[in-house]
Amino acid sequence: MTMRVLLRWAVGVAFGVAGPVAWADQVTLTAARDTNLIQTLPADPQMANGGDDSIFVGRTNQGDGADRRRGLLAFDLSSIPAGSTITAVTFSMTLNRTRGGASQTRLHRALQNWGEGTAAGTSGGGGGGQAGSNDATWYCPYFPSSLWNTVGGDYVATASATTTVSGSLTTYTWTSAQLVADVQGWLNNPATNFGWFIIGDESSGQTAKRFNSRENASTGQRPRLVVTFTPPGAVGACCIPIGCTITSATQCAVQSGTYQGDGSVCTPNPCPDAVGACCQNNGTCQIVTQVGCAQLGGTYRGDGTLCTAGQCPIVLIKYVDPLPRPGVALPLSGLPGGAATYRITMTQFVQRLHRDLPLTTVWGYNGTFPGPTIEASSNQQVIVTWVNDLREPGGGLRTTHYLPVDTCLHGPDVTGQAPKTVVHLHGGHVPPASDGYPESSFGPGQEVTYVYQNNQQAAPLWYHDHALGLTRLNVYMGLAGFYFIRDSVENAIPLPAGEFELPMVIQDRKFTQTGQLEYPAQWQEDFFGDTILVNGKVWPYLNVKQGKYRLRLLNGSNSRVYTLSLSNGLTFTRIGTDGGLLSEPVVTPDVTIAPGERCDVIVNFQPLAAGTEVFLTNSAPAPFPGPPGVGVVPEVMKFIVQAQPGYTAAIPATLRPVPPPDLLRVSQQRDFHIRSEADVCTGSKWLINGLMWDDVTETVRLNSVEIWSFINRSPMMHPMHMHLVQFQILDRQDFVLQGDQVVTTGPRVPPPAWEAGWKDTVQSYPLQITRVIAKFTEHTGLFPYHCHLLEHEDNEMMRQFRANCESDWDSNGRVEPADIAAYINQWQADVNNGTRITDTSGNGTVEPLDVSFFVNRWFSALLAGNC
Ligand code: C2O
Ligand code: CU
Ligand code: CU
Repeated sequence: MTMRVLLRWAVGVAFGVAGPVAWADQVTLTAARDTNLIQTLPADPQMANGGDDSIFVGRTNQGDGADRRRGLLAFDLSSIPAGSTITAVTFSMTLNRTRGGASQTRLHRALQNWGEGTAAGTSGGGGGGQAGSNDATWYCPYFPSSLWNTVGGDYVATASATTTVSGSLTTYTWTSAQLVADVQGWLNNPATNFGWFIIGDESSGQTAKRFNSRENASTGQRPRLVVTFTPPGAVGACCIPIGCTITSATQCAVQSGTYQGDGSVCTPNPCPDAVGACCQNNGTCQIVTQVGCAQLGGTYRGDGTLCTAGQCPIVLIKYVDPLPRPGVALPLSGLPGGAATYRITMTQFVQRLHRDLPLTTVWGYNGTFPGPTIEASSNQQVIVTWVNDLREPGGGLRTTHYLPVDTCLHGPDVTGQAPKTVVHLHGGHVPPASDGYPESSFGPGQEVTYVYQNNQQAAPLWYHDHALGLTRLNVYMGLAGFYFIRDSVENAIPLPAGEFELPMVIQDRKFTQTGQLEYPAQWQEDFFGDTILVNGKVWPYLNVKQGKYRLRLLNGSNSRVYTLSLSNGLTFTRIGTDGGLLSEPVVTPDVTIAPGERCDVIVNFQPLAAGTEVFLTNSAPAPFPGPPGVGVVPEVMKFIVQAQPGYTAAIPATLRPVPPPDLLRVSQQRDFHIRSEADVCTGSKWLINGLMWDDVTETVRLNSVEIWSFINRSPMMHPMHMHLVQFQILDRQDFVLQGDQVVTTGPRVPPPAWEAGWKDTVQSYPLQITRVIAKFTEHTGLFPYHCHLLEHEDNEMMRQFRANCESDWDSNGRVEPADIAAYINQWQADVNNGTRITDTSGNGTVEPLDVSFFVNRWFSALLAGNC
């Protein structure tokens, strides 16, 4: 610290005569930095002595070529007001050891800047220590990367001041007009303030003089500079937010300070305590003192800082909110889990997504994000009236979306900013009228009633918005929820239930400065948030008992894939896929889950001591796949093990049989090439077979089995989803592109055991053919199939297939006599070659009975004009 002394020569007053009052100031400065240049031979390691408590000058030995020592010193002049006139300068140093007799010791103005590191020899030794980075050495002003122009340092050849240092250990001073000129020059142009070289007698050997450095324990004997100056005009104390400064009244006003009057001083401090911005984690900002900020538990941004925009970003501390459990939807009639009728309303509201976030505007079903869980059972009909009641905060029905809508996309190109919605039951076996057809979206004030027969086995489904060209925005706003179908087979299998069964929807979001959902106005090929939410809470925690939990994982994100792992060596026991249970549990160290997919897993906290914290983490790059670490948000949530027993029964070794795919019934194979294409409006878009939503080219026949091949020619994984069916993954096969040709390079690899169950969404990897096999049943009409990266889906990576009558053998949309003839031909061929496509009775053999079975059914269909 600089000692500051104010000297007053109130000349006029002293003589009792009224007149102008002249002020002079004097500061006593200690060196801001000092070091020692140590001569070394070029071949030897370079040495430095910045950290030592002494400065050597002169020569230590008798001409060994490495005996020169030069001091370097600089002072911080910032306490002298700019514009001052320097009137006197006295430099002083204390000699603490000497060799030889009296010698001249000179100050030369340095011409280059230099560094003081911490390298030092043993205390008081002149040899120094090996130079570290940025140390000044004989060769380098900053070791090791820059060099002096002249070995031994760059300085003005003419000394600024010279003093004869005799043998007596005392304090010596240097003073001269040139020292005044040096200091004035540095004050006027602080960028040239490189200080002085101190150079002793180098004309003969063993002339070394050793002075106390600024590191010396005798604080009173450190090098010092006394500068006397005349400030520009009258000065006084000026209170500014960072404290007290001596300046002129004008200068004080410029700095928005409070001038304390000419001649007022800063010691004692006349100013109120310095204040600055104090930030709370929730982003609020107050101007208080540093002490006050600490009392508030805030983060002090420094004296004089202001509460400007962006000064206090919201800091989302992880694992401070408990994991919410989505509520179960309550029906108007019937009971949850049985046949029931619901009315579920989409509204806009605010919800607390993290302790330190302000309330965030979201959209949700029945006032919650995520929506309430619909509990259903196989073959028990659920009727839902879905109501779009999205309103402005003022109460009126919304006419525009909450988020900016990109009207380049199909859908909004017609409907503009309208906040249309339509609900799809993902994984459901649902007729088109209740499937949430993307073009059947409806606006605020409107509603539709959908009927779900639940004609399928127990499975973790979910419902979410599916409006054409708006899906990514509507789901991002919060329109998604679980829909569990249960049945007696699954209920009979002992698995963790009740409090030990946890629905967990994982989503990524991005927040504005004010804690609102942020999403780009222009369509982008993917969206990745920097914050992970589980069940609508940012990075939550959950207290768990010492036992097994069934986590019903859903990736409800727009684009982000997760590779989930658990700390403490815990693994996932996978028991189910999108469409229900696996035939047996599979243990894996991690789970990679793509948007739209579900994964049913058991996690066992039983072996862990009470208090153990288990972290659920993510390592999937974004985009996926990609270089490790790129785009990853590693934290998901935390479990804290409690000292309470939980569900400890064993997981059965077998679960629910999954029948092998019915390859013999395959009547059609289709190839779907995935690649992107330029788009004049959005820049690019992803297409399936180069075609778009309106191009309906695929017609399937009910009760037929088909193999669909997703041929991914792109560098990213696309989770491909089909409506109407649950399919099975047949295999994956690597390929290369030769020109435009797909050339397979490896075997067809069946899916790993944990993927060998019922699926409705499949990870289709780059440069692989992913084949799935599905049987189309029951419902005719148009159904979407698409990539479940919502950004892709919204920009044409969604097409539709038509399901036709079984009796429409040629799939031309009509049932005609020619269909029967074609069927009989195929039947005869099947009999001849032993395939089973025409095994209409489904008994495993093709026999005359199949023809009569079919002829009966089809003729009546033909006559009735329907299936
Ligand atoms: Cu989950 Cu057609 O979507
Ligand atoms: Cu779906
Ligand atoms: Cu895609």
